[in-house]
Amino acid sequence: MIRKDDNVQLDEISEEGLVSEDGVVPGGVTDVSPDRDEFLADVLAGLKNPQKSVPAKYLYDRKGSRLFDRICGLDEYYPTRTEIEIMQDYVHEMADVLGRGCVIVEYGSGSSTKTPILLDALESPAAYVPVDICMEHLTEAAEELSRDYPGIAVHPICADFTQDFDVPSFAPHERRRVAYFPGSTIGNFPPAKAVACLQSMADLVGPGGGVLIGVDLKKDPAILEPAYDDCEGVTRDFTMNLLTRMNRELGSDFRPDAFRFKSFWNETDGRIEMHIESCCEQTVRINGCVTSFKESETIHTESSHKFSLSQFAEIAASANLNVDRVWSDDKNLFSVQYLTVVNGSC
Ligand code: TRP
Repeated sequence: MIRKDDNVQLDEISEEGLVSEDGVVPGGVTDVSPDRDEFLADVLAGLKNPQKSVPAKYLYDRKGSRLFDRICGLDEYYPTRTEIEIMQDYVHEMADVLGRGCVIVEYGSGSSTKTPILLDALESPAAYVPVDICMEHLTEAAEELSRDYPGIAVHPICADFTQDFDVPSFAPHERRRVAYFPGSTIGNFPPAKAVACLQSMADLVGPGGGVLIGVDLKKDPAILEPAYDDCEGVTRDFTMNLLTRMNRELGSDFRPDAFRFKSFWNETDGRIEMHIESCCEQTVRINGCVTSFKESETIHTESSHKFSLSQFAEIAASANLNVDRVWSDDKNLFSVQYLTVVNGSC
């Protein structure tokens, strides 16, 4: 489905999803992102669960995506700078392993801040395919990359990357597909869904393909907790923005000041959990449906799982992926790993 968006000129859109003759398509985006009905259905379903929840992907509207960028620059938030440091230190090794003629499909590309490090080091990449759920963020980043890398075909796809989407062939330049999944976003899924997500990447890249992925490692909760509850309150604002988004897009009547942000390390499940907590007993209307909250009842918005290397290797193996290489920083806070499709699966 291709939807008209403010940033997209309809006359630039073709059925195949917009690759112009030179393959560089500023402003052209294939749009398969969730619409309002899906958002509403997901919210209503999530709020019926005993532990109320809303899928984390809905945190990333325009404002949420911008706040998320600010989170990435916070002192307390070690993952982004550590991952960038690992990329800078080892990108030539990564480029060697990936080889020439790669099609890089970036999952949850956001502002694509780490991508130039990789594109600069790769030998003759065939194409860059950023996939993100936020249209505005995606178009801006794709336009910038198209400008900076005029020789690389940039083919943005606006999609929820946990659902199927198609990547066109970039023959004859394409020699290998690599899914690029930085930011330890894999940790935001429950383990079974993380396996399913990796499996769909393995399917997309096929035999001979690979997955270059950022994986956050287990560490002292004294480092973890402030990373997800910063003193400026940006993570709080990012999470609480979901209430404003639901009010705006779904017509609900959440009172943002009657809720508060809560985040903590869950040792049993090896994850940071983020919640929106009700300050009192109250009811909220969403599209005619009434949901009641007890005092201190929460909506679970996001989890961020942390892995040991062996734990992650097991998850990868369940998705028919083999851990080929692991790069880490000197404090072992974070890792970037290259996974390859195990022979016989596709
Ligand atoms: N993948 C990131 C992580 O788990 C996502 C993230 C960072 C995040 N900070 C957040 C999600 C704050 C929600 C709230 O680290």
